[in-house]
Amino acid sequence: MKAKITATASYLPERILTNFDLEKMVDTNDEWIRSRTGIETRHLVKEGEATSDMGTQIALQLLEKSGKDPEEIDLILVATSTPDYLVCSTAALTQDKIGAKNAWGFDIAAACSGFIFAMETASKFIESGRYKNAIVIGADTMSSIIDYTDRDTCVIFGDGGGGVLLESSDDDVGILDSILYIDGSGSRYLNVPAGGSAHPTSKDTVDKRMHFVHQDGKPIFKFAVKNMADVSKQILDQNKLTGDDLKLFIPHQANRRIIDAAAKRCGLPEDKVFINIHKYGNTTAGTIPIALNEAAESGRLEHGDLLLLAAFGGGFTWGSMLIRWGDA
Ligand code: UT7
Repeated sequence: MKAKITATASYLPERILTNFDLEKMVDTNDEWIRSRTGIETRHLVKEGEATSDMGTQIALQLLEKSGKDPEEIDLILVATSTPDYLVCSTAALTQDKIGAKNAWGFDIAAACSGFIFAMETASKFIESGRYKNAIVIGADTMSSIIDYTDRDTCVIFGDGGGGVLLESSDDDVGILDSILYIDGSGSRYLNVPAGGSAHPTSKDTVDKRMHFVHQDGKPIFKFAVKNMADVSKQILDQNKLTGDDLKLFIPHQANRRIIDAAAKRCGLPEDKVFINIHKYGNTTAGTIPIALNEAAESGRLEHGDLLLLAAFGGGFTWGSMLIRWGDA
């Protein structure tokens, strides 16, 4: 038995922050941001809007598209690095808001690879036969941990998320394979230093702005290109496939140059690579499910198509997933 995607959804908050808006906030400019990252706009939540609010909108769309009742959902996983609270999972808050009273679930923290990690986890529960309907969400409110005086990070990230409904499949569509990695030696390059048990929040940590994302962009760039390309090639090789067999490659959207370089290293032509980073920036766990929903809604995926997902993120975390598309 396999786990197949039977509905997709995404949510982007209404407020839009353009490169020109950022020019007024930090020492940057539209030309630099577009040429170095490919980003033109990103969406930001309104005051009081949290990750579970986005998760709820995504879950409600999934219920509507699939025609399922909330009571039929038995598992909710939320991949996020920006939970509403340190204690109380965003999955539980989402469960409550949609009234999925027969569900259990939890959050998964794997930064930008979170959605693939959550899909792998949910698929194993579905494949066990014990759970029938899983909602898998990737969503991040990056604006809650971004320092809008730090040009190294504030130009890159945005808020948003997406998700899928996973159900069991007896035919040959669904999640075919995945390869996932973590390497904690990379944690020094991208992290939020304070607010956890290593450096609990204090006046000192706040004064030192340690509750915001800190990133050393250059090494991350190199690791991202190499590891996303390697893990994509690895999954194709172990399934005796080449880029020619794929309908679409949906990589994590962190930087247009990372996507182009990784796709080139795997020998994937531009027309098979899904790119929407110009509109949303890097929404961390949100990028892949947002792209997946756009690809599905725009008719780029048909029954039987082979789809490759790949991500790289803080931790370090990275991985790839091969999917044969069904009828979502
Ligand atoms: O999902 C994982 C999350 N993180 C990432 O994926 C980050 C990966 N890294 C990157 O995307 C890129 O490294 C960045 C976009 C962060 C930076 O691009 P870069 O081409 O590596 O630029 P750089 O850091 O080498 O900086 C080049 C120049 C520097 O000036 P000088 O020393 O050449 O005079 C920077 O000070 O650009 C300057 N700079 C900026 N200028 C305008 C750095 N940030 C900015 C900025 N606006 N926002």
